[in-house]
This record gives sequence, C-alpha cells and structure tokens, in this order.
Amino acid sequence: MSARPPGAPQGASPRKVTVPDVRARKGGDPLVMVTAYDAPTARIADEAGVDLVLVGDSLGMVVLGMEDTLGVDLDDMVRHAAAVTRVRPSPLVVVDMPYLSYHTGPRDAVLAAGRLVREGGAEAVKLEGGRNRVEVIRALVDAEIPVVGHLGLTPQSLLRMGGYRVQGRALREVERLLADAEALVEAGIFLLVLEGVPARVAALVTERVPVPTIGIGAGAGCDGQVLVIHDLLGLSPGPAPRFVRRYADLHAAAVDAVRRFADDVRARQFPSREESYRLPRETAAALDLGVRKLAREGGGWN
Ligand code: KIV
Repeated sequence: MSARPPGAPQGASPRKVTVPDVRARKGGDPLVMVTAYDAPTARIADEAGVDLVLVGDSLGMVVLGMEDTLGVDLDDMVRHAAAVTRVRPSPLVVVDMPYLSYHTGPRDAVLAAGRLVREGGAEAVKLEGGRNRVEVIRALVDAEIPVVGHLGLTPQSLLRMGGYRVQGRALREVERLLADAEALVEAGIFLLVLEGVPARVAALVTERVPVPTIGIGAGAGCDGQVLVIHDLLGLSPGPAPRFVRRYADLHAAAVDAVRRFADDVRARQFPSREESYRLPRETAAALDLGVRKLAREGGGWN
C-alpha cells in the first residue's frame, strides 16, 4: 500500500512506479521503458503498462524536426515533461537534462533539474557522461533528485564522437566504460542507460554494477530495454537503426487515413448529415421566412 503525504494531490494511481521499485528490479523481471513527449504518447505508454517513461531529448529529432539533440533546451524539456506528467501516468517519469543544462557545473545542474521537477513534474532526471559527471550527480542527489546515468553512445557527445558510433569496441574503451559505470554508481545513480555498445560489454557492465541497466542497442544482457516510441510504432519514416524493432506502421496508417479524408472532402462525401449540426425547427422556419422576404424585397432582414 502506498502512503500519500499530507497535501499530496488526490487521484494518483496506486500502481505508481517509484524509484525504489525500479532499484529493486536489479537482476529480476526485465524493466520496460519507452520514450514519451506529450499527453498522447504518455497515455499510450501508461495503458500499455510499461515501467518507466523517458521524456528523452530525442524530442529534438522525433518531434521538433531537429538534426540532433544539441538544439534542445531546458524550456523544451520542461514543456514536454509537463505534457507527459499532466496525464498522471503510472510509470516512473524520467526526464533528460538537455545539452548545456549540466555541463557548466553542479549549481547550474541543480537549478535546471529543479525546474524539470517543479515545473515539468520529473520524478528522476537522466544525464550523459562518466567520471566527468560525478560532482554534478552528487549535487543532484544531495538536492533529493534521483539520477539516471547514460553511457556508451551518448548523443550529446556527437561532435566529439564524430557521428553516432558504437562505443566500447576496443579493450581500452571497455575498461573506460566499466570505470565510468562504477564512478556513476558511487556518485549515486539508481539506474544506468547503456546505449550503442556491444552486447557482451553491456552484459559485463550489468554484471558489475548493483543498479539496474537499461539497454538501447546494447543487446539482451541488460536488466531492461528502452526504445524511442516513434521508432517502435513506425511513426518515423525511413530506415531504422538495426536495434529497432517496429511493432506497427503508424506512419503509413496515418498517411492512408489523411488521404481518405482528403478524397472524401474533394468528392463532397464529408461531412454527412449525421456529422453536421441541425437548427431547431422553429429557427429553421423563421430563417426560411427571412430568406424568402429578403428574396422578395431585397435589403436587410428587418
Ligand atoms: O533521448 C532519448 O530518447 C534517449 C534514449 C535513446 C535512451 O536518451
């Protein structure tokens, strides 16, 4: 049973997933996470019964039409996080800290994450990077904000990586990844996202750290999996990366639906009488009289 603190809003789902729930799933049933960016995607994730929702900065590409995540700012994340949390989803809501919201130091990071919590309703924040983020993570945890780490292919490091490249292929990189993962755990993360790393390396990290890992393009050895919801629903047209499995083709279905609407409008088949509003009988009769008078006499209504 969950206890509601005095003054907490009524109506929260009793199934609400919490940070301790997630932490306790290490080595247990796989955790399921999908991204969501607005009320409709949050409702879909909620009704499908996933464990965690990520308001990812992939927002930039899949919703805002940007080339990468570097242009996403804190206001974007706050606005979209608020749209997700307004539907009061049961999954734990993790919100990405956008590029430059934590790179300038712990104080800026706490203020940025504080906005995500206060204005966006974030229940945890996620940030990218390894040992260089330890101070920032400590400050966030000190400010009572749960933190998710993100290692491997970190999209905010696009310029340094020279593209979206699988990380951890060389032994030196594997050693770095393991040391980074341990440092993040030491700093206080409760969950670790591993993106774009060989399956064997992700499984090794998963074995070594006491917190659950969630993989994306990281093989089946993690404690859970995350996909971008637009990818799994087939809402992003064009070829998908190899780690994406498409469970629907909603883009094609949506194009077909809009095309059929356009055909109906052009053929004057939409709207029908049933899809239109009717005048009450007396108003219709008075209107008929008025129209006839107008036709007879010309001029105004009276
Ligand atoms: O922004 C995002 O969607 C992410 C996932 C790919 C993990 O960080």
